[in-house]
Amino acid sequence: MPAKTFYLETFGCQMNVHDSERVAGTLQAQGYAPVGNMQEAELILFNTCSIRDKAAHKVFERLASAKPLARQGKKFGVLGCVAQQEGEAIYRRAPHVSLVAGSASYARLPELLRDLEAGAGRVSGLGAADEAFETELTRRGNPFRAYITIIEGCDKHCAYCVVPYTRGQERSRASAAILREAAELAGLGYTEVQLLGQNVNSYRDPAPARLDFAGLLAAAGEIPGLRRVRYTTSHPRDFTPAIVTAMGRNPVLCDHVHLPVQSGSDAVLARMRRGYTRARYLELIAAIRACPRPLAVTTDIIVGFPGETDRDFEQTAELLGEVRYAGAFIFKYSPRPHTEAQTWADDIADEVKTQRLMILQQRQQQIQMEDNQAWVGREVEAMVEGRHPKLSQWTGRTSSNRVVNFSAPEAAPAPGLAILGQPAPAPAGFTPGAYVRVRVERAGANSLVGHQVA
Ligand code: SAH
Ligand code: SF4
Ligand code: F3S
Repeated sequence: MPAKTFYLETFGCQMNVHDSERVAGTLQAQGYAPVGNMQEAELILFNTCSIRDKAAHKVFERLASAKPLARQGKKFGVLGCVAQQEGEAIYRRAPHVSLVAGSASYARLPELLRDLEAGAGRVSGLGAADEAFETELTRRGNPFRAYITIIEGCDKHCAYCVVPYTRGQERSRASAAILREAAELAGLGYTEVQLLGQNVNSYRDPAPARLDFAGLLAAAGEIPGLRRVRYTTSHPRDFTPAIVTAMGRNPVLCDHVHLPVQSGSDAVLARMRRGYTRARYLELIAAIRACPRPLAVTTDIIVGFPGETDRDFEQTAELLGEVRYAGAFIFKYSPRPHTEAQTWADDIADEVKTQRLMILQQRQQQIQMEDNQAWVGREVEAMVEGRHPKLSQWTGRTSSNRVVNFSAPEAAPAPGLAILGQPAPAPAGFTPGAYVRVRVERAGANSLVGHQVA
């Protein structure tokens, strides 16, 4: 009997990437073997993202182009945020789909798959979960950096955001389960873990330990064998000075804070329902800057939110110069189903959104270019990720999450190792996941460039 096979393609954020690892583990425990392309698979799954309209469209394009495969008896499934948002309407838009499941229903996947195998035409898992998805069956795709979910869902209901409707209410995992998982990963040789949640700061330990996020982070930083502990994402409303204190005390806690601001205008922040003002946000930045260790701060920004005036926009542009972010993801506002802002006119013309996006991107590139120059001549520690596909260099990341491309004496060009971001076999003595000292010789806006030092 040939093994049952599945192909799983992932869109969206790290939460989705990690969910896919958990789904893959669950499927494998059900006797399904993973394959790298649709042609070989009996079950074709898309783990989808709905954060902006374009992201949500992607899955329908993929489903349409793969439709001929349905005639060969292959089954299609839609998972993740579009699944939860659209529900059974997906069957109408793409009738060749036979499985739809949101992230709150992954614990039910074995049961849904059994029904499908038993001949059910369509199976759906669209309920709301009141517990986090606990599984021992995770199949991690990366042998040295591991994601660990600490909190699922989001209760913030920012006016523009679909996530509370696609991922449901906040559910925190017990601190003991999280720390056990981190310790097990360290035992398996992982040296970096990333704690995940849409809003890690609102972590509330359901277990008697009652750790808050700062306490959990501090405890994770003490696990023997871990050299880097990261976390994402932080919401400014719940960010506490105790987090900075924990980071200042223990260099295992990576010197990077992702603190999405969204806008520099109080009027826009209020309409976004973000729950903080520009001044409050800048107080948090000041607390972060006061850490004894310099911490890199990155952010997310939305341009063209309903009613955003030139003056509002200018305040966001000024904020970039004031904070001097080490990186910024800048998005054009996209109206999303179920959200409060969707009921308002999307009144900023697309050309204006594009123009504002480009102005911010240009300013941000300039800031990064200037600030990265300060690293020239200094030494950094890079965790090796692989070989750069185009340059004959290695690529890695600093604790602050900066990309470092570097040459190393023993790194002979190795054909076929050119997959960035994926673990690649390496010449003897130099393995992805290794930690290397690099002297920075040059710096661009998006990377540091240097040479390995002994
Ligand atoms: N939980 C995280 C955000 C996750 S979504 C937080 O609160 O920071 C990642 C980013 O996508 C958001 O920070 C926001 O900048 C952007 N985003 C979310 N909804 C959007 C929308 N409707 N249009 C454009 N960008 C959006
Ligand atoms: Fe969306 Fe706001 Fe929740 Fe972030 S905090 S996921 S932006 S609702
Ligand atoms: Fe997208 Fe869902 Fe993540 S909407 S950004 S995959 S939480």
